[in-house]
Amino acid sequence: MSALISSLSGPLSGAVAVPGDKSMSHRALMLGAMAVGETRISGLLESEDVLATAAALRALGAEIERAEDGIWRVFGRGVGGLVEPASVLDLGNSGTAVRLLMGIAATHPFKTTFSGDTSLSSRPMERVMGPLRLMGTGFTARGGGRLPITVSGTPAPIPISYELPVASAQVKSAVLLAGLNTPGLTTVIEPDPTRDHTERMLAHFGAEVVVEETSQGGRKITLTGQPELIGHDISVPGDFSSAAFPLVAALVVPSSRVELAGVGLNPLRTGLLLTLQEMGAAITIHNKRPEGGEPVGDLVVEHSALRGITVPAGRAASMIDEYPILAVAAACAQGETRLEGLSELRVKESDRLTAIAKGLDQAGVEVNETEDSLTIQGTGGIPGGARINAALDHRIAMAFLVLGMATERPIEIDDGATIDSSFPGFMDLMNSLGAAIKPGTGE
Ligand code: S3P
Repeated sequence: MSALISSLSGPLSGAVAVPGDKSMSHRALMLGAMAVGETRISGLLESEDVLATAAALRALGAEIERAEDGIWRVFGRGVGGLVEPASVLDLGNSGTAVRLLMGIAATHPFKTTFSGDTSLSSRPMERVMGPLRLMGTGFTARGGGRLPITVSGTPAPIPISYELPVASAQVKSAVLLAGLNTPGLTTVIEPDPTRDHTERMLAHFGAEVVVEETSQGGRKITLTGQPELIGHDISVPGDFSSAAFPLVAALVVPSSRVELAGVGLNPLRTGLLLTLQEMGAAITIHNKRPEGGEPVGDLVVEHSALRGITVPAGRAASMIDEYPILAVAAACAQGETRLEGLSELRVKESDRLTAIAKGLDQAGVEVNETEDSLTIQGTGGIPGGARINAALDHRIAMAFLVLGMATERPIEIDDGATIDSSFPGFMDLMNSLGAAIKPGTGE
């Protein structure tokens, strides 16, 4: 365990670029592995989660290498061309990696066994096994549908039309990726739209994907199976979910002004921007441009006097990974903030609802947790002086280090290594802006 401690910080200033988008990095490697020819990826996130995906795809027969110029080259095997791995695929901490790869393995006619760390092994996998069983795939899982899981890929996949019971881009993507090696039309209906990187990237690689709005405000995505995917160049923008940490830090540390260059601004990911703007945040977007089939822009953020608001459940899918850092912004705001529709937070890298509530309480913030909501009282003058259990959850770790930049006494987290899942270089980047994060005592 490598503890980190974060202390009250002077103004933050400077311009930085955050590492590449995690969701897009996983998908670029996966689609590259199933394409014909070469895929060249620039800006790939070189974090533990994404490196686990690269290793798994190599074990499934794809050739993947990192050139000296930092470009990743993938030589794919074509749709349906992956081969049985010789050993168990360990996806570490990454839910996206394991769920999407289970979709891919589901329609390849061999057995693939997946494992993960203690966090991933406690997360529910039935949500992907359910629809994949309808396609003809078999599974052997630990009790409660948990990892380790062996996927018995079907040699004769059946195309399905599946309505998502939970708003989940991972489940949607698992079904669509299984649909790649399935004849006919595979359809996913999502009542609440979730991040659409898979659909966008499939189209970029040459698949036929039709996206229709439903009359209830949802989406219906239809993929024509067994396309020939063609290797493509992909440029991965900065991860909005990573940018959220320096962004909120600049908002809550007095006199700060920070520029974040080249951040992905997919509208299904940026619910936090709208929320913070409603709270009174001064954030401006410059130089908005398309890159790799996704909108990208530069953000300028200035310290702002934030006020508490109610964030409706309907916005949760567009900011699902941002609640830990939003809770920090709410603690530093004036007045009450109510966050609704948070039941999915219970099945993330940790039970984030409890982790947020417990950590804020330890830092001296008044917070109330229900089954699916949080109410946070922003009163100013947060005591801090807490030691937080990061619970193998990178976003809990980073959120509380940001809180420590604005509390009277420092905040320590027990495990900074978990941050490498999504944001390698977090401490150095934050310190380059003026933060004071250093190795902790671990006591
Ligand atoms: C992701 C989807 C989300 C998100 C995760 C990344 C993706 O999970 O929390 O960090 O890349 O598809 P769910 O699909 O479980 O909501």
